[in-house]
Amino acid sequence: MTVEPLPLQKLPPDLDCNRLPKHVAVIMDGNGRWANSKGRPRIMGHQKGVDTLKNLLYCCRDWGVSALTAYAFSTENWGRPSEEVAFLMTLFERVLRRELQEMMSENVRIRFVGNLGKLPNSLQSEIAKAMEDTENNSGIQFTVATNYGGREEIVQACKAIAHKVQLNDISITDINEDLFEQHLYTQGLQNPDLLIRTSGEMRISNFLLWQMAYAEIYVTETLWPDFNRDEFHQALSNYQKRDRRFGKVNDSK
Ligand code: IPE
Ligand code: IPE
Ligand code: MG
Repeated sequence: MTVEPLPLQKLPPDLDCNRLPKHVAVIMDGNGRWANSKGRPRIMGHQKGVDTLKNLLYCCRDWGVSALTAYAFSTENWGRPSEEVAFLMTLFERVLRRELQEMMSENVRIRFVGNLGKLPNSLQSEIAKAMEDTENNSGIQFTVATNYGGREEIVQACKAIAHKVQLNDISITDINEDLFEQHLYTQGLQNPDLLIRTSGEMRISNFLLWQMAYAEIYVTETLWPDFNRDEFHQALSNYQKRDRRFGKVNDSK
Protein backbone atom coordinates (compact mmCIF):
# COMPACT_ATOMS: atom_id res chain seq x y z
CA MET A 1 0.00 0.00 0.00
CA THR A 2 1.27 3.45 -0.88
CA VAL A 3 -0.70 5.49 1.65
CA GLU A 4 1.22 6.79 4.65
CA PRO A 5 -0.74 7.94 7.70
CA LEU A 6 -1.19 11.64 7.11
CA PRO A 7 -0.50 14.08 9.92
CA LEU A 8 -3.65 14.77 11.92
CA GLN A 9 -6.00 16.96 9.89
CA LYS A 10 -8.55 19.20 11.57
CA LEU A 11 -12.30 18.87 11.13
CA PRO A 12 -13.45 21.26 8.35
CA PRO A 13 -14.82 24.40 10.08
CA ASP A 14 -18.31 24.08 8.55
CA LEU A 15 -18.86 20.75 10.31
CA ASP A 16 -20.21 20.67 13.86
CA CYS A 17 -18.06 18.40 16.03
CA ASN A 18 -21.04 17.76 18.33
CA ARG A 19 -23.22 16.44 15.53
CA LEU A 20 -20.89 13.94 13.90
CA PRO A 21 -22.01 10.35 13.39
CA LYS A 22 -20.38 8.15 16.02
CA HIS A 23 -20.38 5.15 13.72
CA VAL A 24 -20.05 5.30 9.92
CA ALA A 25 -20.68 2.20 7.80
CA VAL A 26 -19.60 2.06 4.18
CA ILE A 27 -20.52 -0.12 1.21
CA MET A 28 -17.37 0.17 -0.87
CA ASP A 29 -18.88 -0.30 -4.30
CA GLY A 30 -17.66 0.43 -7.83
CA ASN A 31 -14.12 -1.00 -7.86
CA GLY A 32 -14.77 -3.05 -11.00
CA ARG A 33 -16.36 -0.15 -12.88
CA TRP A 34 -13.50 2.14 -11.86
CA ALA A 35 -10.95 -0.30 -13.28
CA ASN A 36 -12.98 -0.98 -16.43
CA SER A 37 -13.31 2.74 -17.11
CA LYS A 38 -9.52 2.84 -17.26
CA GLY A 39 -9.29 -0.24 -19.46
CA ARG A 40 -7.80 -2.28 -16.61
CA PRO A 41 -8.83 -5.58 -15.00
CA ARG A 42 -11.34 -5.43 -12.13
CA ILE A 43 -8.74 -6.50 -9.58
CA MET A 44 -6.87 -3.22 -10.09
CA GLY A 45 -9.94 -1.50 -8.71
CA HIS A 46 -9.89 -3.70 -5.61
CA GLN A 47 -6.24 -2.93 -5.09
CA LYS A 48 -6.81 0.82 -5.34
CA GLY A 49 -9.84 0.47 -3.06
CA VAL A 50 -7.60 -0.58 -0.18
CA ASP A 51 -5.85 2.81 -0.25
CA THR A 52 -9.24 4.54 -0.21
CA LEU A 53 -10.28 2.58 2.87
CA LYS A 54 -7.08 3.36 4.70
CA ASN A 55 -7.47 7.07 3.93
CA LEU A 56 -11.05 7.01 5.18
CA LEU A 57 -10.01 5.25 8.40
CA TYR A 58 -7.47 7.96 9.18
CA CYS A 59 -9.92 10.64 8.20
CA CYS A 60 -12.50 9.26 10.65
CA ARG A 61 -9.83 9.13 13.32
CA ASP A 62 -8.71 12.72 12.63
CA TRP A 63 -12.21 14.15 12.59
CA GLY A 64 -13.53 12.35 15.65
CA VAL A 65 -15.71 9.55 14.25
CA SER A 66 -15.24 6.73 16.75
CA ALA A 67 -16.22 3.70 14.64
CA LEU A 68 -15.93 2.75 10.97
CA THR A 69 -17.37 -0.44 9.48
CA ALA A 70 -16.54 -1.44 5.91
CA TYR A 71 -18.25 -4.07 3.76
CA ALA A 72 -15.37 -5.98 2.15
CA PHE A 73 -16.96 -9.23 0.96
CA SER A 74 -20.57 -10.39 1.03
CA THR A 75 -21.92 -13.92 1.32
CA GLU A 76 -23.15 -13.39 -2.26
CA ASN A 77 -19.72 -12.36 -3.58
CA TRP A 78 -18.65 -16.06 -3.70
CA GLY A 79 -20.71 -16.15 -6.90
CA ARG A 80 -18.09 -14.04 -8.74
CA PRO A 81 -15.48 -15.59 -11.06
CA SER A 82 -13.15 -17.80 -9.02
CA GLU A 83 -10.04 -15.78 -10.00
CA GLU A 84 -11.60 -12.59 -8.62
CA VAL A 85 -12.61 -14.32 -5.36
CA ALA A 86 -9.13 -15.83 -4.99
CA PHE A 87 -7.53 -12.43 -5.66
CA LEU A 88 -9.68 -10.79 -2.99
CA MET A 89 -8.88 -13.43 -0.35
CA THR A 90 -5.15 -13.07 -1.04
CA LEU A 91 -5.46 -9.27 -1.02
CA PHE A 92 -7.18 -9.27 2.40
CA GLU A 93 -4.45 -11.50 3.81
CA ARG A 94 -1.61 -9.49 2.30
CA VAL A 95 -3.01 -6.16 3.48
CA LEU A 96 -3.60 -7.45 7.00
CA ARG A 97 -0.09 -8.79 7.28
CA ARG A 98 1.40 -5.55 5.95
CA GLU A 99 -0.73 -3.12 7.92
CA LEU A 100 -1.02 -4.73 11.33
CA GLN A 101 2.03 -3.08 12.84
CA GLU A 102 0.89 0.36 11.74
CA MET A 103 -2.65 -0.25 13.02
CA MET A 104 -1.07 -1.13 16.38
CA SER A 105 0.99 2.05 16.49
CA GLU A 106 -2.07 4.07 15.43
CA ASN A 107 -4.02 2.48 18.33
CA VAL A 108 -6.74 1.08 15.98
CA ARG A 109 -8.98 -1.74 17.24
CA ILE A 110 -9.67 -4.15 14.40
CA ARG A 111 -12.57 -6.55 14.33
CA PHE A 112 -13.88 -8.81 11.58
CA VAL A 113 -17.56 -9.73 11.36
CA GLY A 114 -19.17 -12.39 9.21
CA ASN A 115 -19.06 -16.14 8.78
CA LEU A 116 -15.29 -16.18 9.23
CA GLY A 117 -15.01 -19.99 9.52
CA LYS A 118 -15.64 -20.30 5.77
CA LEU A 119 -12.65 -18.13 4.82
CA PRO A 120 -9.31 -19.69 3.76
CA ASN A 121 -7.39 -20.95 6.83
CA SER A 122 -4.41 -18.69 6.24
CA LEU A 123 -6.71 -15.63 6.16
CA GLN A 124 -8.49 -16.82 9.32
CA SER A 125 -5.11 -16.94 11.11
CA GLU A 126 -4.25 -13.36 10.07
CA ILE A 127 -7.70 -12.20 11.19
CA ALA A 128 -7.37 -13.91 14.57
CA LYS A 129 -3.94 -12.37 15.10
CA ALA A 130 -5.13 -8.88 14.11
CA MET A 131 -8.14 -9.05 16.45
CA GLU A 132 -6.09 -10.43 19.33
CA ASP A 133 -3.20 -7.99 18.97
CA THR A 134 -5.42 -4.91 18.74
CA GLU A 135 -8.19 -5.84 21.18
CA ASN A 136 -6.88 -3.60 24.00
CA ASN A 137 -6.25 -0.59 21.75
CA SER A 138 -8.34 2.41 22.68
CA GLY A 139 -8.49 4.32 19.38
CA ILE A 140 -10.97 4.06 16.53
CA GLN A 141 -13.00 0.84 16.27
CA PHE A 142 -12.45 -0.49 12.75
CA THR A 143 -14.76 -3.34 11.71
CA VAL A 144 -14.42 -5.24 8.44
CA ALA A 145 -17.40 -7.27 7.22
CA THR A 146 -15.94 -10.28 5.41
CA ASN A 147 -18.08 -13.18 4.20
CA TYR A 148 -20.82 -11.14 5.80
CA GLY A 149 -24.53 -11.40 5.02
CA GLY A 150 -27.23 -9.75 7.12
CA ARG A 151 -29.64 -12.63 6.60
CA GLU A 152 -27.01 -15.23 7.52
CA GLU A 153 -26.14 -13.22 10.63
CA ILE A 154 -29.78 -13.16 11.74
CA VAL A 155 -30.23 -16.90 11.10
CA GLN A 156 -27.11 -17.82 13.09
CA ALA A 157 -28.32 -15.60 15.96
CA CYS A 158 -31.69 -17.41 15.92
CA LYS A 159 -29.93 -20.78 16.03
CA ALA A 160 -27.68 -19.73 18.93
CA ILE A 161 -30.68 -18.46 20.91
CA ALA A 162 -32.78 -21.55 20.11
CA HIS A 163 -29.91 -23.71 21.33
CA LYS A 164 -29.84 -21.85 24.66
CA VAL A 165 -33.60 -22.33 25.03
CA GLN A 166 -33.19 -26.02 24.28
CA LEU A 167 -30.53 -26.31 27.00
CA ASN A 168 -32.81 -24.40 29.40
CA ASP A 169 -30.15 -21.69 29.78
CA ILE A 170 -32.81 -19.11 28.91
CA SER A 171 -36.56 -19.18 28.45
CA ILE A 172 -38.56 -17.85 25.51
CA THR A 173 -39.71 -14.86 27.55
CA ASP A 174 -36.05 -13.78 27.94
CA ILE A 175 -35.84 -13.15 24.19
CA ASN A 176 -35.97 -9.44 23.41
CA GLU A 177 -34.14 -6.97 21.16
CA ASP A 178 -31.21 -6.57 23.58
CA LEU A 179 -30.69 -10.30 23.87
CA PHE A 180 -30.98 -10.71 20.11
CA GLU A 181 -28.33 -8.04 19.50
CA GLN A 182 -25.98 -9.87 21.82
CA HIS A 183 -26.04 -12.81 19.39
CA LEU A 184 -25.21 -10.80 16.27
CA TYR A 185 -21.65 -10.69 14.91
CA THR A 186 -21.61 -6.99 15.78
CA GLN A 187 -22.37 -7.65 19.45
CA GLY A 188 -21.16 -4.71 21.58
CA LEU A 189 -20.82 -2.33 18.63
CA GLN A 190 -23.22 0.62 18.48
CA ASN A 191 -25.54 0.73 15.48
CA PRO A 192 -24.34 2.84 12.53
CA ASP A 193 -25.59 6.43 12.37
CA LEU A 194 -24.60 6.94 8.75
CA LEU A 195 -24.37 4.49 5.85
CA ILE A 196 -22.42 5.63 2.80
CA ARG A 197 -22.68 3.72 -0.47
CA THR A 198 -20.49 4.66 -3.40
CA SER A 199 -21.15 4.16 -7.13
CA GLY A 200 -24.79 5.19 -7.11
CA GLU A 201 -26.66 1.97 -6.31
CA MET A 202 -29.71 2.58 -4.10
CA ARG A 203 -29.64 -0.70 -2.17
CA ILE A 204 -28.08 -2.19 0.95
CA SER A 205 -27.10 -5.54 -0.59
CA ASN A 206 -27.59 -7.63 2.59
CA PHE A 207 -25.41 -5.35 4.77
CA LEU A 208 -26.19 -4.90 8.49
CA LEU A 209 -29.93 -5.47 8.02
CA TRP A 210 -30.77 -5.38 11.72
CA GLN A 211 -28.28 -2.68 12.69
CA MET A 212 -29.29 -0.27 9.92
CA ALA A 213 -32.87 0.19 11.17
CA TYR A 214 -32.36 3.93 11.79
CA ALA A 215 -29.16 4.73 9.91
CA GLU A 216 -29.14 7.77 7.65
CA ILE A 217 -28.34 6.68 4.10
CA TYR A 218 -26.06 8.66 1.79
CA VAL A 219 -25.39 7.51 -1.77
CA THR A 220 -22.79 9.11 -4.02
CA GLU A 221 -22.17 8.44 -7.72
CA THR A 222 -18.42 8.48 -7.06
CA LEU A 223 -16.79 5.07 -7.49
CA TRP A 224 -15.10 3.70 -4.37
CA PRO A 225 -11.46 4.12 -5.52
CA ASP A 226 -12.17 7.85 -6.07
CA PHE A 227 -13.87 8.41 -2.70
CA ASN A 228 -11.68 10.89 -0.78
CA ARG A 229 -11.73 13.36 2.13
CA ASP A 230 -13.70 15.92 0.13
CA GLU A 231 -16.34 13.31 -0.65
CA PHE A 232 -16.49 12.28 3.01
CA HIS A 233 -16.78 15.94 3.98
CA GLN A 234 -19.81 16.24 1.66
CA ALA A 235 -21.38 13.11 3.16
CA LEU A 236 -20.95 14.51 6.69
CA SER A 237 -22.37 17.94 5.70
CA ASN A 238 -25.37 16.19 4.23
CA TYR A 239 -25.76 14.06 7.38
CA GLN A 240 -25.69 17.13 9.60
CA LYS A 241 -28.69 18.55 7.74
CA ARG A 242 -30.83 15.49 8.46
CA ASP A 243 -33.61 15.53 11.02
CA ARG A 244 -33.31 12.19 12.84
CA ARG A 245 -36.75 11.63 14.31
CA PHE A 246 -36.61 7.92 15.17
CA GLY A 247 -40.35 7.70 14.58
CA LYS A 248 -41.17 10.57 16.92
CA VAL A 249 -42.49 14.05 16.24
CA ASN A 250 -39.94 16.81 16.44
CA ASP A 251 -41.24 19.36 19.02
CA SER A 252 -39.81 22.36 17.20
CA LYS A 253 -41.73 21.64 13.97
C1 IPE B 1 -16.93 -3.54 -4.58
O1 IPE B 1 -16.71 -3.24 -5.91
C2 IPE B 1 -15.93 -4.53 -4.02
C3 IPE B 1 -16.50 -5.86 -3.67
C4 IPE B 1 -17.74 -6.21 -3.77
C5 IPE B 1 -15.55 -6.82 -3.18
P1 IPE B 1 -17.30 -4.16 -7.05
O2 IPE B 1 -16.33 -5.26 -7.32
O3 IPE B 1 -18.67 -4.60 -6.70
O4 IPE B 1 -17.33 -3.17 -8.28
P2 IPE B 1 -18.51 -2.99 -9.34
O5 IPE B 1 -19.76 -2.72 -8.55
O6 IPE B 1 -18.60 -4.27 -10.09
O7 IPE B 1 -18.10 -1.84 -10.16
C1 IPE C 1 -21.87 -5.05 -2.02
O1 IPE C 1 -21.47 -4.78 -3.32
C2 IPE C 1 -20.83 -5.90 -1.33
C3 IPE C 1 -19.57 -5.24 -1.01
C4 IPE C 1 -19.27 -3.98 -1.22
C5 IPE C 1 -18.60 -6.08 -0.37
P1 IPE C 1 -21.95 -5.70 -4.53
O2 IPE C 1 -21.33 -5.12 -5.76
O3 IPE C 1 -21.64 -7.11 -4.24
O4 IPE C 1 -23.51 -5.50 -4.50
P2 IPE C 1 -24.60 -5.63 -5.67
O5 IPE C 1 -24.34 -6.91 -6.38
O6 IPE C 1 -24.43 -4.45 -6.56
O7 IPE C 1 -25.92 -5.59 -4.95
MG1 MG D 1 -20.52 -3.83 -6.99
